[in-house]
Amino acid sequence: MTLSRYLAALGYGTRKGAETIVRQRRVTTAAGVVLRDTSAYRHDDVFVDGAPLDPPPGTVIALHKPVGYVCSLEDRPPLVYDLLPPRFPQRTPVMATVGRLDADTSGLLLLTDDGALNHLLASPKSHLPKRYAMTLAEPLRDDDGARVAAGTLMLHGETTPLAPAELHVTGECAAEIVIHEGRYHQVRRMMAALGNHVRTLQRVAFGPLLLGDLPEGAWRVLASHEVDTLRAAALATKAQAKAAAKAR
Ligand code: URA
Repeated sequence: MTLSRYLAALGYGTRKGAETIVRQRRVTTAAGVVLRDTSAYRHDDVFVDGAPLDPPPGTVIALHKPVGYVCSLEDRPPLVYDLLPPRFPQRTPVMATVGRLDADTSGLLLLTDDGALNHLLASPKSHLPKRYAMTLAEPLRDDDGARVAAGTLMLHGETTPLAPAELHVTGECAAEIVIHEGRYHQVRRMMAALGNHVRTLQRVAFGPLLLGDLPEGAWRVLASHEVDTLRAAALATKAQAKAAAKAR
């Protein structure tokens, strides 16, 4: 692929815009050798205006989403994309969020330009567990854990009960919950169904991947072994769910 075509796919401009950048001799190697459109190049040794390229195609990133940021490009700012290189929404394929977190929720948000992987991770059929830490307006009740684990809890306005989830009490008004679905505002609505109210909500794990000590507002590229682990976990939970459905 020509250099300008590659740059355009990474969101550095339209085809014409990327050609111009190359023609203006703004694209170089680390050693400062000017690259031409037909030059051979290696992603890690391409610099635009002296800055390394954004991550290559097929990247998965982890963002620590702060409260107040929205995941949709169509929504009112601030957007999670404001925390990322401005080229991300312009990439082809686009760097898209893997599912969403609501504006008032913070924590681990994945983005990728790998559409098939995005679909696998975000699909309700993958049943990948997601862990959230929350603080609550009211003290937890003794039977809350049993009620979310029962597989009978109903959300307001829905007709099918929730799959069993695991509640881990961490304080009088604090808990972690692991859910295996991704219904709209699920955790907040689950706690409302229990007669409580979520004050703060943070996603601390997505499948095997932990938020860890990634600072709020910061992002990092996942290592290939982390992506492999995520993919394997999603395929495993998907297969388990399929087998369980068949056995019923
Ligand atoms: N549950 C919620 O209520 N909100 C989120 O953002 C994610 C899960």
